[in-house]
Amino acid sequence: AFAKVKTEPPVEVFHLVKVFQADKHEQKVNLGIGAYRTDENKPFVLPVVKKCEIEVVNDAKLNHEYLPILGNPDFTKAATEMVLGKDSKALKEKRTLSVQTISGTGGIRLAAEFMCQHLQRRTVFVPNPTWENHMKIFKQAGFKHIKQYKYWNAKKRKLDMSSILRELSEAPEGAVVLMHASAHNPTGMDPSKAQWHQIAELIKQRRLFPFFDCAYQGFASGDIESDAFAIRHFVDAGLETILVQSFAKNMGLYNERVGNLVVVLNDKQQLPAVASQFTILVRINYSNPPAFGSRVVHKVLSVEQNRKEWEQTVCMMASRVKDMRKQLADKLKQLDTPGTWDHIVQQTGMFSYTGLTPKHVQKLKDDKHIYMLSSGRANICGLTTKNVDYVAKSISEVVKE
Ligand code: LMR
Repeated sequence: AFAKVKTEPPVEVFHLVKVFQADKHEQKVNLGIGAYRTDENKPFVLPVVKKCEIEVVNDAKLNHEYLPILGNPDFTKAATEMVLGKDSKALKEKRTLSVQTISGTGGIRLAAEFMCQHLQRRTVFVPNPTWENHMKIFKQAGFKHIKQYKYWNAKKRKLDMSSILRELSEAPEGAVVLMHASAHNPTGMDPSKAQWHQIAELIKQRRLFPFFDCAYQGFASGDIESDAFAIRHFVDAGLETILVQSFAKNMGLYNERVGNLVVVLNDKQQLPAVASQFTILVRINYSNPPAFGSRVVHKVLSVEQNRKEWEQTVCMMASRVKDMRKQLADKLKQLDTPGTWDHIVQQTGMFSYTGLTPKHVQKLKDDKHIYMLSSGRANICGLTTKNVDYVAKSISEVVKE
């Protein structure tokens, strides 16, 4: 029965984890998968998250009954307020729908299925480059035309704003435009506020449909509110949108798969129909979401003291990454590494799109035991005060070869 099943290549980021774990070299460094590390190079369980987990486990009132199909309403309410802002007009006018999702990936898949089946969308524009999974998810969900808009100027190592505007202005009416709300993966470069204004205006004029992947709220600026700017601006500008939040990175809940999908409509009369379709989609996909992570996130967001502590921790994580960016760039310059390295400092979030070639990446892996994606994306969270010298020296050597 299985004779014709074809073998696919492994998924790069997860494959790298495996190869890294099997590597016995003392100085090995994993700059592959997007996960935060402490300066001791350890996975980080946020203390406030740990505290809330214990409270959830010990809460005698809680049980393992099914959640509603659209998820834990306390969690989805708190998550939606976090991204749209408590004073959001759309929230006050009750024209939003929230759906708990299997983290960001599950939310994007659900949104793509909904947009294909119920908004009759067949064309999506994603940034080039983007997270490698985006295009595949939209294809699997039924989209026929998966297009890219040029986002990155590789030569200058910065955002290619004129290409973004030009290519989106040529997009057919109704096309879905995927945007990263903050801390773009993999480039680490976001539009400025003024540029977001321009993009929103264009999307409105061309009657395109904005869709946001919000996986790093807090990681770009260190501030939860600032990183929601793009989404809030689109909503304030009267645009309808769908967005998906992940709590993998900003709460360190990678394997709990906690996400939230928000639909913002202009006509609240349409809400019950939209909710009914999401209910069916969830039901036929996985019936209903898991409870634990959603309870933890709700406790973090809704208890003032927890919320404060969490925001401080997010800020601390973002500043550690920022500091490592600076150290890496400074050291590369001190070592007279050919090329320019300021982009490492200008980029935000977890990643640097280093500009290293696949050949450099291969050499770093084979000769130096330093792992990053073949695109040259490096997870800066994998740098520590102890390994940054080794990494800078190694990069410098392979670039000079
Ligand atoms: C990443 O980009 O490294 C993370 O989002 C992990 C993943 O699922 O790709």
